[in-house]
Amino acid sequence: MVFRGRGGQQAETTMSLATVTANPVRPAMRAAAQSPATIAALFDGLAPDWHSQWAWDNYESTILALAQHYGLRRVCEIGGGRDPLFSAEQAHRRGLELTVNDIDAGELALTPAGLKTACFDIAGDLSEPDIARGGYDLMVSRMVFEHVGDVERAWTNIHALLAPGGVALAFFPTLWAPVFALNHILPEKASRAIVHALFPARRDGGGDPKFPAHYDWCRGSRATLTPMLTRAGFSDVHIQRFWGHGYFDRMPGLKQADHAFNALAAKIGWDFVTTYAYVVVRKDRG
Ligand SMILES: C[S@@+](CC[C@H](N)C(=O)[O-])C[C@H]1O[C@@H](n2cnc3c(N)ncnc32)[C@H](O)[C@@H]1O
Repeated sequence: MVFRGRGGQQAETTMSLATVTANPVRPAMRAAAQSPATIAALFDGLAPDWHSQWAWDNYESTILALAQHYGLRRVCEIGGGRDPLFSAEQAHRRGLELTVNDIDAGELALTPAGLKTACFDIAGDLSEPDIARGGYDLMVSRMVFEHVGDVERAWTNIHALLAPGGVALAFFPTLWAPVFALNHILPEKASRAIVHALFPARRDGGGDPKFPAHYDWCRGSRATLTPMLTRAGFSDVHIQRFWGHGYFDRMPGLKQADHAFNALAAKIGWDFVTTYAYVVVRKDRG
């Protein structure tokens, strides 16, 4: 089961989508010359908020900022399925060549028309002839890694699929935030029933189905994740941690208590209870 947080409040942002979409992606060579030294330095400029609402509100603009800074054009959205980042027209307008990946051919059958699709398991065997090793400049995913059984293998595969200097961003929920810990511990049947009661659109046959979650390597701790990402081949690694969620928004009292808990956890940087993370990595230029 996946709890999905798209709470009501609008986070303050320093970069609007309009700002980063005004110019299409610049050619790689020119952009590389102006790149900040590290991904962490780039994120400093984006000034992310501690609350996860920022992560939801700024997912697209962050991806566009990365594409623009590093001159990345060939984008693969992992597990994009029926709900990819951009339509074909939007991708084209932003100078991006978007391929939508999913493990499930049924999901890809629902991908909006005009987008290129690639059906494969991001944690699987990459020897299939239509899988382009080194063929992507940017690989992104939202609410996918918690469903992947072997996330270290997924990151190793991403390293193989990226071109030199390519970037990947994965946005996922993290343990041991209490809401996701409960989701993880409860039997699938019980967690499914709770999600279906709270979010009718996520019932089977609805527009936003629920997929089983494993939470392998779904943590917000830099100390925990960095050695695994280094083993996968990445040296430039950034973990953007978020706290808070919108699940208790309609539960007065609990909402305020939970917000206070998360605000305190964010203030002291308590990794153990992050709710979401962006993991962002860059492959060496070789
Ligand atoms: C919760 S949905 C998220 C869909 C979309 N990214 C979004 O944010 O709305 C998870 C998607 O990941 C896909 N998925 C799960 N495991 C995968 C894997 N190992 N490789 C590629 N896609 C996978 C599922 O089929 C599903 O389409």
